Amino acid sequence: MQTSIAVMNASGRTGQRIAQALLNAGCRVVALGRSADKLAALQEQGADVCLGDPADTAYLSAAFEGVHTVYGLLPYDLTEPGYLDSQRRLGEAMASAVRQAGVKRVVFLSSLAAEQPGGTGMIRPMHDQEERLRAIPGLDVMCLRAGAFMENLYGALPVIREAGIVADGFLPDLPVPMVATRDIADAAVQALLDPAWHGQQVREVLGPRDISMNEVTRLLAQSLGLPQLAYVQLPRGELERALTEAGLAPDVSALTGELMEAINDGRVRTTFGRSAANTTPTGMQSFVHELAEAYRAG
Ligand SMILES: NC(=O)c1ccc[n+]([C@@H]2O[C@H](COP(=O)([O-])OP(=O)(O)OC[C@H]3O[C@@H](n4cnc5c(N)ncnc54)[C@H](OP(=O)(O)O)[C@@H]3O)[C@@H](O)[C@H]2O)c1
Repeated sequence: MQTSIAVMNASGRTGQRIAQALLNAGCRVVALGRSADKLAALQEQGADVCLGDPADTAYLSAAFEGVHTVYGLLPYDLTEPGYLDSQRRLGEAMASAVRQAGVKRVVFLSSLAAEQPGGTGMIRPMHDQEERLRAIPGLDVMCLRAGAFMENLYGALPVIREAGIVADGFLPDLPVPMVATRDIADAAVQALLDPAWHGQQVREVLGPRDISMNEVTRLLAQSLGLPQLAYVQLPRGELERALTEAGLAPDVSALTGELMEAINDGRVRTTFGRSAANTTPTGMQSFVHELAEAYRAG
């Protein structure tokens, strides 16, 4: 029988690639999202599109009806205030709907440091959601704990253009696990299609190797043809002010400041150690070319 898999946030970076791969693998795919336009291409290829608000338990329960496996995540709009409340509502709705619809397996996109109950800023809701999902009796749960997304670096481009520097909160020489979202999606597809795992699992997705912002900046400088490009570490208060000026909600800026402190203190790291199982292929060397293309396209 065809496996039936619901993909939450199917218009997003990981969700879109996952839904596509599952269709190619012959699964029945239920693609969830809020925008018909963004899901039209998946619908044309055979996905059942289910539109609604992912904080609405009734909508999610109906979308999960008859579904064996769910790919779940907690989406966000970083310009909207009230991040922790909104993430809690989304998390509770997902867990209730999984329970009500009798879903058998969930692959949940989480983050490094989600094993910690607090002091991790933006990551805390993912800790809470891992706990909610693990509390559902009989549910098989795989938490994919990702490193920092390489795509976060798109946020550096306007600052390079305006100020001629790369500015962020990371310690300049601190090696950080950075991973491309396409590799996270591929790891999720592997977990979604693999019938061998059961119970409560955690897998990390770390990128090819840890890399510092100084090194990222050197690679970007080469790729952009800007040899003078330098990395500047912003102190926490300055980082939070800059993020709010750039349009993030003030509570999101403060939670990012807290997260940055956790990263710089070495609290956001692998708990298993690096291995072939948590190392992914896309390297920063090739990713910076995509960033440079976006920079040149303006
Ligand atoms: N950035 C990092 O370094 C990092 C690291 C580890 C884990 N994560 C986690 O990764 C997840 C993001 O995954 P992704 O990159 O695949 O997604 P994504 O591309 O960021 O998803 C974008 C889509 O989310 C939807 N969305 C935005 N705000 C929403 C809201 N308030 N309610 C419902 N939907 C909303 C919108 O889709 P529609 O308008 O079509 O509905 C938007 O197109 C988050 O849970 C994040 O915490 C991030």
